[in-house]
Amino acid sequence: MQSVPNNAKNAVTSRPDRALVAKGGATPAASGSEREFEYRPEDFDTIAKLIYKRAGIQLSAVKADMVYSRLARRLRALGHTRFSQYLAALQRDAESPEWEAFTNALTTNLTSFFREAHHFPILSEHLLRHRGRDLSIWCCAASTGEEPYSIAMTCVETFGRFDVPVRIVASDLDTNVLEKAREGVYPEERLDKMDAERRQRFFMRGKGRQAGFVRVRPELTRLIEFRQVNLLSAPLPLQGPYDVIFCRNVLIYFDKATQADVVRRLAHLLRPDGLLFVGHSESLFHVSDVLRLLGKTVYEPVKAGGRRVA
Ligand SMILES: C[S@@+](CC[C@H](N)C(=O)[O-])C[C@H]1O[C@@H](n2cnc3c(N)ncnc32)[C@H](O)[C@@H]1O
Repeated sequence: MQSVPNNAKNAVTSRPDRALVAKGGATPAASGSEREFEYRPEDFDTIAKLIYKRAGIQLSAVKADMVYSRLARRLRALGHTRFSQYLAALQRDAESPEWEAFTNALTTNLTSFFREAHHFPILSEHLLRHRGRDLSIWCCAASTGEEPYSIAMTCVETFGRFDVPVRIVASDLDTNVLEKAREGVYPEERLDKMDAERRQRFFMRGKGRQAGFVRVRPELTRLIEFRQVNLLSAPLPLQGPYDVIFCRNVLIYFDKATQADVVRRLAHLLRPDGLLFVGHSESLFHVSDVLRLLGKTVYEPVKAGGRRVA
């Protein structure tokens, strides 16, 4: 095993408080006069407008401290003393590489292996129902990779071999998390809830300097193509149709209009008998003209038959 990450910024944990600290630095935001950088309400408003335009992410005022924590390290790295200075420099140059760092700092990447586990048997059944042809899956908010690797493990378990007839594309807007996903190296405790058979079959344990980390086996990594895709892109830069799209726990960051736009474009890339998986708190009733709920936050295009997920 090589190149185990030691960068706390990208550490993702299932505990929201720790996830937030991991992105923002060692401590939560100080408030008011204790702050290292001048940060006015109008700075937060500018940040909220910029990230909404760029990523569709809606930031309400209650996120002001979180935003401070996450961007303070960018100001420090660039030698700014005030948020207004940082934001003016950012907006002066539409091509600045800082836009990527700004965006990466403001995404929330919380994820885990087999999160919302009830979806994976449904995926497996769907793959079996359509076996006999080449299948394709797009995981469109893949974060640090736990979700697409869970999809890949499900494919391997379903077909009983590593050379599955399934093409998996995993994408995210955040380039830092994509790098981690490609690397496929995780602290061992990320597998705590995974059964021993899966751990054994799909991961290698690190030794020596890499002790305490696991690496996804290359046979699994090979099944996934990682790429950066902004869900706001119209048209989406992908060739459908897909048998399955996973779009879980990202729509919650968008307002209703953005959700509807994104979901319509996703639906357009689904096969007529395809499935769209969304997160447990994401309801798509406002796009019921294109997608029908089968149950358990799994949707199908409306033109399909009236199948239900038990
Ligand atoms: C909370 S994570 C969800 C990860 C995974 N889908 C899951 O359910 O565990 C949300 C992910 O959406 C990504 N994201 C946010 N806005 C996006 C956009 N406009 N386009 C693509 N990905 C986006 C973030 O970078 C983040 O990794």
